[in-house]
Amino acid sequence: MKKHLTILAVLSLLFVGTVSAHDGSQLWLQGSAPSVTSTLEIANAELNQSWKGAAPVLKLNKSMKALPDGSFSITIQAGTPVIQSASEVGLLYGSYHLLRLQQTGANVTDTAFVERPSYNIRILNHWDNLNGTIERGYAGRSIFWRNSADQMRRNADGEVNEEDLLHPKDAPEIPSVDRLRDYARANASIGINAYVPDNVNASPKVLTTEYLLEVKKMADIMRPYGMKTYLAINFASPMVIGGLDTADPLDKNVQKWWTAKVKEIYKLIPDFGGFLVKANSEGQPGPNDFGRTHAEGANMLAKALKPFGGIVMWRAFVYSPSDPDRAKQAYLEFQPLDGQFLDNVIIQIKNGPIDFQPREAYSALFGAMPKTREMAEWQITQEYLGHSNHIAYLAPMWTEFIQQIKEIAHCPINNALSPARSLTAISAVSNVGNSPSWCGNVMAQSNWYAFGRLAWNDELSACQIADEWARLTLFPDRDDAATTKALANVKCLMLRSREAIVDYMMPLGLHHQFAWGHHYGPEPYCDIPGARPDWMPSYYAKADAEGLGFNRSSTGSNATGQYPTDYAKVLDNPETCPYDLLLWFHHVPWGKTIQHRCGDRVARESLWNALCHHYQHGLDEARAMQRDWDRCQGQIDADVFADIQRRLRIQTRDAQWWKDGCLLYFQTFSGLPFPDDMESAVHDLDKLRAIKLGITNYECPSEELLDSVR
Ligand code: GCU
Repeated sequence: MKKHLTILAVLSLLFVGTVSAHDGSQLWLQGSAPSVTSTLEIANAELNQSWKGAAPVLKLNKSMKALPDGSFSITIQAGTPVIQSASEVGLLYGSYHLLRLQQTGANVTDTAFVERPSYNIRILNHWDNLNGTIERGYAGRSIFWRNSADQMRRNADGEVNEEDLLHPKDAPEIPSVDRLRDYARANASIGINAYVPDNVNASPKVLTTEYLLEVKKMADIMRPYGMKTYLAINFASPMVIGGLDTADPLDKNVQKWWTAKVKEIYKLIPDFGGFLVKANSEGQPGPNDFGRTHAEGANMLAKALKPFGGIVMWRAFVYSPSDPDRAKQAYLEFQPLDGQFLDNVIIQIKNGPIDFQPREAYSALFGAMPKTREMAEWQITQEYLGHSNHIAYLAPMWTEFIQQIKEIAHCPINNALSPARSLTAISAVSNVGNSPSWCGNVMAQSNWYAFGRLAWNDELSACQIADEWARLTLFPDRDDAATTKALANVKCLMLRSREAIVDYMMPLGLHHQFAWGHHYGPEPYCDIPGARPDWMPSYYAKADAEGLGFNRSSTGSNATGQYPTDYAKVLDNPETCPYDLLLWFHHVPWGKTIQHRCGDRVARESLWNALCHHYQHGLDEARAMQRDWDRCQGQIDADVFADIQRRLRIQTRDAQWWKDGCLLYFQTFSGLPFPDDMESAVHDLDKLRAIKLGITNYECPSEELLDSVR
């Protein structure tokens, strides 16, 4: 027996050796970025280096102009592919598409189809600061900005700034032209065609000539890959860098300042896309500071951009405390402005009304402004989903949102036929940094990939995208029985991950139970004296002796009333409200019987028991994800395997932390025991209450830090 085991071990070692190293630094792509710089040359070079078979033919076909920009057709007859498009960028997209088909084992012998994008603008928002840090970034420093003057700052005593210490100088040299080219190539390969390189909490400095010259360099690298450059701007720029004493959008000098600034930008970057604006939100300046509306502010910028074909993406992420329910605020501020925005303004709305929670109701603003252009904003970076420690595949969340928007809000946000929507766009907050794996870990790349694929075709399924991504990234050029098994396990892990996170963090519609500031780990007990109530978890959970949840029904804040009538009725009644949004819309008594689904089990039981079962299930799922991954040992690059295995260990320990922290805390209100069929807590509530990670908004806690605090 022992001898057999030894032989097996040797064989498996030999086999491990045959798995080619694919460490994730090359993303889902093969080969390297071509050294040529024109779009057509890039397309040809990509095909030359990676296509196996008869040389594909690329044809510019002006008759395809009626299709949305970037559309292409592929016809393959007897193995010879012909790619056609009205534009060179369309040919580039077609080339990447063709390669993807071959590399994922699809039919590349005889087929014919046309591909057209669901949205005109498919844009990544980077929350990168000009000093190289990334707000909510968990993958190192920015690939766009490096300001050596800002690095290793020292105080009067000569001590190095804490933030700079956390991000030492020995990070790879950035920005690097090669890195930016690889970034552009990766985006083009999945159809992403725009980016904003600076944080929505924007520094006015980005509009100084010194910085604009840097932006021009980026734009020149991105252009051949079809990537348009946009900038996030600070509304008070005319005051901060322009020397004016106001930024009032109706002031002539302010208007002149913006007109001149826009001209300067277009001189440097003739195909510049436009501005992204966070105004009157979380302390950012905006038109309200001067007694003007969002429409007046946005239109002033839109007028300056209009002659050059530029647009304004104006964010609806606002929540001034004028209504007791934060979830209603954006709707209250924006809906009455419907019809007042110029046609090159598009309102950028987060998928949910609060803030990128693991599960939210969709934002009622979608569909509520028929005379205004609207676009969705998703978050790829995992601010609320365990940073880059937790493995969370987000396509299931985004497809759930797309379905709701189309079916419930009746808001065809991608319907180019409606005049108000002839400009269509979709955006996501990126998770890209200068870490070797780009996104903090290899699995997190799947969300960048999924965003691109859904922005291109919002009818793709989460499962198909997972399949593509995993084949391309983890198992390139592999097609044997062991790979098939490993692929199935990876997909299983990916597809269960989002719901697992909902369950171990905040099931049944609970939300915002995160730690203060950095948002890592549970803190339902958080209490910061004097802080805004809607920055505290207790505001959202509303736990008391009677029950749990935020009453947003017509007997409460009436947020349900902001939704289309039929759906509002469904939400308003706790008996018909979907169980996974129950505590989002209702304050439910602990003992009330609810019907819900937990994994494969449909149950009728008290709210308290249901809550306990969901937390337990989330923890069980985290453990199942570990097993899914362990089964892939030997089939995945050894370093990638070990890294993800380590993160899944952290994730499972965190799931336990979430389960114990939340349930022990809520138990102090319910006074009820855990149901018999679930595990006891392994933590002590008082010890959990005392945990303070002390990290910034730019980093993911290390395993050592987490181990040291709990
Ligand atoms: C969240 C996030 C902030 C970010 C903001 C935004 O509140 O925590 O870091 O600036 O969203 O989207 O503007």
